[in-house]
Amino acid sequence: MKILFIYYTGTGNTRYLTDLAEQSFRAAGHQTSRVEISRGAPLADTRGYDLIGFGYPIYGFNSPLPFNRYVKKLIFTRGQKFFIYKNSGETFAVNNASSRILLRIMRKKHADFAGEYHFVMPYNIHFAFEKPFVREILDKDEKLMGIMLFNLQNGIVQKIESNFFYNVASAAVSIQKIGGAVNSFFYRADMKKCIGCMRCVRDCPENNIRFEKGRIRFGHRCDMCMRCSFFCPADAIGIGMLQHWKVNGDYRLREIEKLPLPSPPYINENSHGFYKCFIRTFRDIDRQYEELFADTAADPDGNPD
Ligand SMILES: Cc1cc2nc3c(=O)[nH]c(=O)nc-3n(C[C@H](O)[C@H](O)[C@H](O)COP(=O)(O)O)c2cc1C
Repeated sequence: MKILFIYYTGTGNTRYLTDLAEQSFRAAGHQTSRVEISRGAPLADTRGYDLIGFGYPIYGFNSPLPFNRYVKKLIFTRGQKFFIYKNSGETFAVNNASSRILLRIMRKKHADFAGEYHFVMPYNIHFAFEKPFVREILDKDEKLMGIMLFNLQNGIVQKIESNFFYNVASAAVSIQKIGGAVNSFFYRADMKKCIGCMRCVRDCPENNIRFEKGRIRFGHRCDMCMRCSFFCPADAIGIGMLQHWKVNGDYRLREIEKLPLPSPPYINENSHGFYKCFIRTFRDIDRQYEELFADTAADPDGNPD
């Protein structure tokens, strides 16, 4: 198959998953290409692809606005197949509704749905996940990637069911619509801490940050992706009303993936509070993986036995 991955990322988690996806699909003999959505990115040419993979991080139980805007502009042939690989920091059921806008856009374009997969990735807002937890998450992601590849190769359509209540909740929490524009009035770079590396200016996907008269200044075209504050080496950027939820510091996923898995597992039957939602998610991934690849000693290549 020829597969095109079209994805949006704020802090790199969706890029990491796209790397993993390309690696898995290529190892199984498929051809892959990718387009990362950011300001000025060329419109992807979808002609000739057997499958389009859409990757996005969940923002307030929704897909990111720049992602939606980009997909709306794309042209597809009738019946062209697409699938979704979305990710977020937790697996509350309201997240099930996050693709409702994307699915509506794709229905209008008469494209064919080939499946949806929800990967867990560490939070880039709210609070930082501990390394052992991230290690366990990456392990589940690798398994889910194997399941996704197997299903797509074999025409198995995996759905994530939403309902009226999740859809309403997701629409109500669509924080980005006002969030970026309003909150950006309160963004501040602490120039006493700032080391002048200009990483925030250079990397903002909306070109919304500039250096002027000795200060870092923010415009109002913010997508709330958190890239500036997350990667600031001096932790100098304040994110207004969300300041108490700020997460600063790269997780260094490539290093974490080399660590041994936590033993006993980080998420187990005793996990409670916030962590409880992962018990079922991780158990479902393990079960599905076992069912598909029980006889496969090596990494699955997605082919049936
Ligand atoms: C503005 C914003 C809203 C978010 N909302 C949610 C959410 O509703 N549910 C969730 O589980 N994670 C939420 N997250 C966390 C991200 O989905 C998660 O960290 C994701 O892996 C980030 O991917 P990226 O690095 O590709 O941007 C949110 C993050 C941001 C920046």
